[in-house]
Amino acid sequence: MLLRTENISKQFNGIYALKDINFEIRPGEIHGLVGENGAGKSTFIKILTGVHRADEGKILWEDQPVVIHTPSDSRKTGINVIHQDHVLIPSFNGIENVYLGSEYPVKNGKVDWKAMYDAVEAKAKELRMDLDLQKTADELTPPQKTCLEIIRAMMHECRLLILDEPTASLTEKETEILFAIIEKLKKQGTSILYVTHRMEEIFRLSDRVTIFKNGELSGVVNTAEIDKDGLIGLMTDQWKSEKIKRESTQGEVLLEAEHIASKDGVVKSGNIQAHAGEILGIYGLGGSGRTELLETIYGYRPIKDGTVKIGGKQMTSLSPQNSIRNGMVLISEDRRGKAMIGSLSIKENILLSCIDRYSRHGVLDHKKEGTDAQEKADALQIKMAGINQRAIELSGGNQQKVVFAKAMMTNPLIYLCDEPTQAVDVKTRAEIHKLLRKKADEGSAVVYVSSDLKEILEVADRILIMSGGCTKEILENQDLSSNDVLACCYRE
Ligand SMILES: Nc1ncnc2c1ncn2[C@@H]1O[C@H](COP(=O)(O)OP(=O)(O)OP(=O)(O)O)[C@@H](O)[C@H]1O
Ligand SMILES: [Mg+2]
Repeated sequence: MLLRTENISKQFNGIYALKDINFEIRPGEIHGLVGENGAGKSTFIKILTGVHRADEGKILWEDQPVVIHTPSDSRKTGINVIHQDHVLIPSFNGIENVYLGSEYPVKNGKVDWKAMYDAVEAKAKELRMDLDLQKTADELTPPQKTCLEIIRAMMHECRLLILDEPTASLTEKETEILFAIIEKLKKQGTSILYVTHRMEEIFRLSDRVTIFKNGELSGVVNTAEIDKDGLIGLMTDQWKSEKIKRESTQGEVLLEAEHIASKDGVVKSGNIQAHAGEILGIYGLGGSGRTELLETIYGYRPIKDGTVKIGGKQMTSLSPQNSIRNGMVLISEDRRGKAMIGSLSIKENILLSCIDRYSRHGVLDHKKEGTDAQEKADALQIKMAGINQRAIELSGGNQQKVVFAKAMMTNPLIYLCDEPTQAVDVKTRAEIHKLLRKKADEGSAVVYVSSDLKEILEVADRILIMSGGCTKEILENQDLSSNDVLACCYRE
């Protein structure tokens, strides 16, 4: 066995995040790790990589006990990791970030920048990653950040590579590159531990799967011997996905954007009409400008050209504040960057965009505030110690739910959703879909961007295709297959 754990347990604030985990990984296998949001996957990985220390239990490496108390211990053992949330220093450029935590090469008593640059560039080339290494991390998009972290992980010799939801913010092209890297590593005998909520990735990649449920081991299976429902059954108590009924009565146009072009040139011509009562999906291949279009309409990204009308009223200046004031929210994919403040409590985050609603003559009504936030948190089943817990302490998927709850608080007319279910488990994903459908049925318009084509086909009434920064055809989502949509994306 390459790695084995015996009875690993870990508590936070007196609550078990992990309990008695006996886990093993063989040399050269791709091992999936699944479980609901908050099941303990990331905590387990942090224990294997020296970020957290287990309260109890042992780690064995090739049948010998090892001590992993720091990330560097873990790397020396032969374990490399890509964590769920980007671990990059915003003001450092690509090279500096890749060398984070490693020794810098030195020549004549000075840091040898050229050697560093050459080494990182060679690795990027080898991995077929096209990235400007001089850019600072805060100038990179989420997928570019993930690419940078892949390069960093691959700089060292590694026997076990751990990936904690690596594809959550990747486009299809980058996902394929990543899968190719994984398969190559496997051939070389490297073991992979792969955490994901995307079942199709588990079935495509893994040899075996371990399932966590509420911090405990719920099963270990050969992937070939189980199907999706079987896996979900081991993750969760009694749950069946149900097809949401669409009523889809198209009402008046609530959002109308015409000829939108962004200053940076990514969006060239975006045209959207979203009606009351509908979920309008936007789909396009990676780099087609979906996120950028939403950000431009919302006022987050500077606009060069075009008009935005909300409820028939033309917006004279676009800004997130103006959008919120006029009833339009953006639920963004980059929760750490834009949508959530980790050091604030869950409650404060949920209330962030509507704090003035609770003040009367300058005094905050704390009681009402608390119950409203609690209600939203309960509706989304946020797994937390309490509403006053710091948001940063939540599991990745539960943080995403906080972002969602915050958007719901403003009771918007128009929801712009950009990958709102990334990192969210299967069950919550269905809950979020249901909630959005309910909002649509109540008269809101929902614009829904996802890089997951199946998800778009599941939720959308109509699908707007984007490519090369332009919106193209619009497809009615009736008896559509994924091939129909893809064919449309590739059509010139
Ligand atoms: N630093 C921390 N302080 C307090 N509680 C924590 C901390 N880190 C994790 N937890 C708690 O431990 C539990 C397990 O979280 P973990 O992040 O391991 O879940 P996960 O399986 O990775 O979930 P997800 O799919 O959402 O990423 C959660 O209830 C979480 O709130
Ligand atoms: Mg996690």
